[in-house]
Amino acid sequence: MVAADRARARMVDALRDAGRIRSPAVEDAFRAVPRHLFLPGLSIDDAYADEAVAVQFAEGVATSSASQPSMMAIMLEQLDLRPGHRVLEIGAGTGYNAALMARIVGPTGAVTAVDIDEDLIAGAAVHLADAGVTGVGLVVGDGALGHPPLAPYDRIVLTVGSSDIRPEWVAQLAPGGRLLLPLAVRGSQLSTALDLGPDGVLRSDSVRSCAFIRLRGLGASTDVAARLDGFRLMLQVAEDGPGPDAAEVAAALACPGGLLPVPVRLGSADVWDGFGLWLALTEVGTCRLLASDAETGLPDDLLPLGPGRGTIALATVRGEQPPGLAMVVAGPDRAEGSRASSVGVRVYGAAGPVLGVRLLTALERWLTAGRPGAAEWQMAAVPAGVLREPLPPGVAVVRKEHCCLLLDMPGLPTK
Ligand SMILES: C[S@@+](CC[C@H](N)C(=O)[O-])C[C@H]1O[C@@H](n2cnc3c(N)ncnc32)[C@H](O)[C@@H]1O
Repeated sequence: MVAADRARARMVDALRDAGRIRSPAVEDAFRAVPRHLFLPGLSIDDAYADEAVAVQFAEGVATSSASQPSMMAIMLEQLDLRPGHRVLEIGAGTGYNAALMARIVGPTGAVTAVDIDEDLIAGAAVHLADAGVTGVGLVVGDGALGHPPLAPYDRIVLTVGSSDIRPEWVAQLAPGGRLLLPLAVRGSQLSTALDLGPDGVLRSDSVRSCAFIRLRGLGASTDVAARLDGFRLMLQVAEDGPGPDAAEVAAALACPGGLLPVPVRLGSADVWDGFGLWLALTEVGTCRLLASDAETGLPDDLLPLGPGRGTIALATVRGEQPPGLAMVVAGPDRAEGSRASSVGVRVYGAAGPVLGVRLLTALERWLTAGRPGAAEWQMAAVPAGVLREPLPPGVAVVRKEHCCLLLDMPGLPTK
């Protein structure tokens, strides 16, 4: 066995042992397709590490990457591909995921992979040829429009983040087909597998946490993060709704108040998708504060989140007077990485104490509900404009341009 085969076998064993790979079909695909041929120039060890590898940058920001193998395995399991399926991938990148999918759908199926970038498609063609993969059609185009000539598809998968569910994707799904996409929901990104019902509603089969590069082109989302002058922090607010205002949050931050104790420890996953998503769905003033660079103005208080630091907060919404903010901060025995830390709630501004109590009440409800994370949510996506009210209790609504998302969780307090 050559070094690449040994490294690949080790990677697949680890993905299977960690429960990321669960089905024989996904395992076979990872064993068969040589990832290193899709990442030429990388050492064998790096090509088979469980890491995302950025392959293209614009102004210092990654615009394409080979996704982390763990995340790819999670998504391939969510996709539930079968031999003979016709698949559309939006975000071809290196072509590696398309090659894995082509292996699973076999000679009776077909994979069409679209990328907005001509150079990436040219590279993917070379990688697929080097790996001897057939059954993948490559297309240069804006995946926001899908690829109508070969529709309908049994599966449409985005390997790039989207803030909305575009009608083109729904229209190009076969009846009962599945759409899988990293979907932005109130500041979280959720890998959501949705099945198309005969009523035109998409209903989730599974939801997982994820973190993907976002769509460029027609489906690009406007950036909702604003710099907070004087604090080296970015304020991220919900994409739908009034939300807090950057100048008012900065004014509140200039008036620090007391620290409220929190009886539980929280990890970055709790702050990001667990309690973070719960708070964002129940309080319109929910926002996230992210370090705008490595040396932030509040270095000791932020929690490790992804590649940087950040936290979740509740602020007064735009125009509400007096302004205030309550934010989850790291406690004295802060843990690094994803391990749970002791935390507290720091209040700022005249309205801070009231917001602190509201944030702690929401935390109490989330704990009572069993600390639900991304995997516990049920989601339905209804085309915009056809939502029927009133909604059942325990359902939160997130309104997008093209769809309304209904998120369902037992114990969720909604108005
Ligand atoms: C995380 S990478 C995908 C990785 C890829 N699946 C692989 O196996 O290497 C995301 C890709 O989405 C592409 N992308 C961004 N916006 C797009 C759009 N509107 N249409 C199609 N592709 C797009 C990027 O160019 C990038 O290659």
